[in-house]
Amino acid sequence: MSKQRIAILPGDGIGPEIMEATLSILTATGLDAEFVYCDAGMAAMEKGKPPVPPETIETIREIGVALKGPTTTPSGGGHSSANVAIRKALDLFANIRPAKTLPGLQGPFANANLDMIIVRENTEDLYAGIEYQAHPDVAQAIKVITRPGCRRLVKYGFKMAQEQGRKRVTAVHKANIMKLTDGMFLHEFYEEAKNYPDLIADDIIVDNCCMQLVTRPEKFDVLVTENLYGDIVSDLCAGLVGGLGLAPGANIGVDCAVFEAVHGSAPDIAGKGVANPTALLMSAVMMLRHLGRHEQADRITNSVLRVCSDGKCLTVDLGGKAGTKDYAVEVIHQSKALPAVS
Ligand code: NAI
Ligand code: MG
Repeated sequence: MSKQRIAILPGDGIGPEIMEATLSILTATGLDAEFVYCDAGMAAMEKGKPPVPPETIETIREIGVALKGPTTTPSGGGHSSANVAIRKALDLFANIRPAKTLPGLQGPFANANLDMIIVRENTEDLYAGIEYQAHPDVAQAIKVITRPGCRRLVKYGFKMAQEQGRKRVTAVHKANIMKLTDGMFLHEFYEEAKNYPDLIADDIIVDNCCMQLVTRPEKFDVLVTENLYGDIVSDLCAGLVGGLGLAPGANIGVDCAVFEAVHGSAPDIAGKGVANPTALLMSAVMMLRHLGRHEQADRITNSVLRVCSDGKCLTVDLGGKAGTKDYAVEVIHQSKALPAVS
């Protein structure tokens, strides 16, 4: 295969550390890639640029695929989210977040064998960022839900579910209260479900969903949902399968895709060399599959499975003592020892 160009956005906080570890593993698999570095987030602002410089968007658009580290967004005042800007500029409408139990890890759900995928709408909802001060004591935010936005998201969710041999697709919503917005989402969900008679389509109200995710998580398969619920529910699911250090994600658009972990820039551990790079690494595995590079994707996945079940070289968030680099070295070591399994 020819050299694969990949846009790389190292990001802020732990971003550069976990990106370096991830790229060292990608390179060690023999992937013939050219990494094209781009600025985003605080890292861009420190160079006097906006949080998402136009040249970053242009590069991702031209290459078609990017691997992104987390970017910091200050709460309250300060700049707006680089993530939201990238997703909107490139129309990355579907945010895919798998939550799968890894072998050997401790925790209350260690034996639950969970395997879920959250398909989150990525460009609309309250994340449209339309807020205004109606009165000195009243602030308002507008929830934007469009029919085409709902339809393309649920279409993607059902198609993905079918391609991956999944059995059930569940819409997560609050249509009992938000009858127009979430009602539209739910309507489009059941309209699209008619095209997939082999898949079970059902729905659940988001608060009940959170409760059942904790009491009976194994009953869930593919969850499709709006932007805000998807953000919250996917962190919950990350917690079920071992924490944010393990949860990968993909932002998919029509022409390009940006792969990034569910977690943020973790300022509390940034610069200490202890962050778990697995979430970004498994996001890179999703990217490899998107690019048809299944051999390398299998090799990395199998190596991560072996390192986790072995349990001797785990990062601090998983109860181990390994630093980011130690873990990356061990994943590379194990990947070289393994034959590729498809
Ligand atoms: P966070 O996800 O950065 O951290 C939450 C907790 O999880 C922290 O205790 C952190 O140390 C831990 N954690 C996260 N990733 C980890 C990893 N790889 N290894 C070990 N521990 C890890 O969430 P927080 O603190 O709410 O947000 C920090 C910043 O990140 C904010 O500015 C936020 O806006 C931004 N953010 C960016 C995202 C992105 O770029 N996609 C997504 C979520 C938040
Ligand atoms: Mg989030």
